[in-house]
Amino acid sequence: MEYKLRKAEPRDVSDILRLVKELAKYEEMENQVTLTEKELLEDGFGDTPFYHCIIAEIQGENSSDGLKVVGFAMYYFTYDPWVGKQLYLEDFYVMEQYRGLGIGSELLRHLSNLAMKTRCTGMMFVVAENNEPSVQFYKRRGAEDLSEEEGWRLFRFDKNSLVKMATPSEE
Ligand code: ACO
Repeated sequence: MEYKLRKAEPRDVSDILRLVKELAKYEEMENQVTLTEKELLEDGFGDTPFYHCIIAEIQGENSSDGLKVVGFAMYYFTYDPWVGKQLYLEDFYVMEQYRGLGIGSELLRHLSNLAMKTRCTGMMFVVAENNEPSVQFYKRRGAEDLSEEEGWRLFRFDKNSLVKMATPSEE
């Protein structure tokens, strides 16, 4: 099956949100997706894009069908004060019926080339512990499990904690 990769455009936000939700469902956390198309549009395609996406699309089954978005990689750049620029892979997903065709590997090839071009020294990502097929997919390509090997733990301040810290204390 032929597929093409391309940079996401503003018209892709509904497909991006659809795939974000599919991945969240796969990870059994669908109800945690509160983001809207409007936010995706503003955040990804404004003056300061907070994320970028590479889209994978195929020709629909009938000749009258248009192109169909079947996978994506959402990424952005971060900075590691020890080694410099890093590419952060935030979401990576190919629809179930199109897996195993090489689309995921091609998305990673594209991102690896981009990382080389932009002088990134690594690509970081988080994988749910119970997502064993993906853990193995990444490990087969040389990924290191930093939680296991270096003991890093993932933390977050949620909005309530941020509000508490942000509110000026009363004297
Ligand atoms: N489904 C999955 N994998 C298959 C299938 C199938 N039906 N058939 C074969 N495979 C094997 C392939 O042989 C290949 O093996 P390899 O690692 O030895 O090359 C591998 O699984 C799939 O390789 P590709 O075809 O290049 O990748 P694919 O297009 O299937 O995409 C991806 C990989 C994105 C991980 C996809 O499996 C997926 O969407 N999984 C569910 C969602 C997920 O776990 N996403 C990653 C979350 S982590 C994060 O987002 C940072």
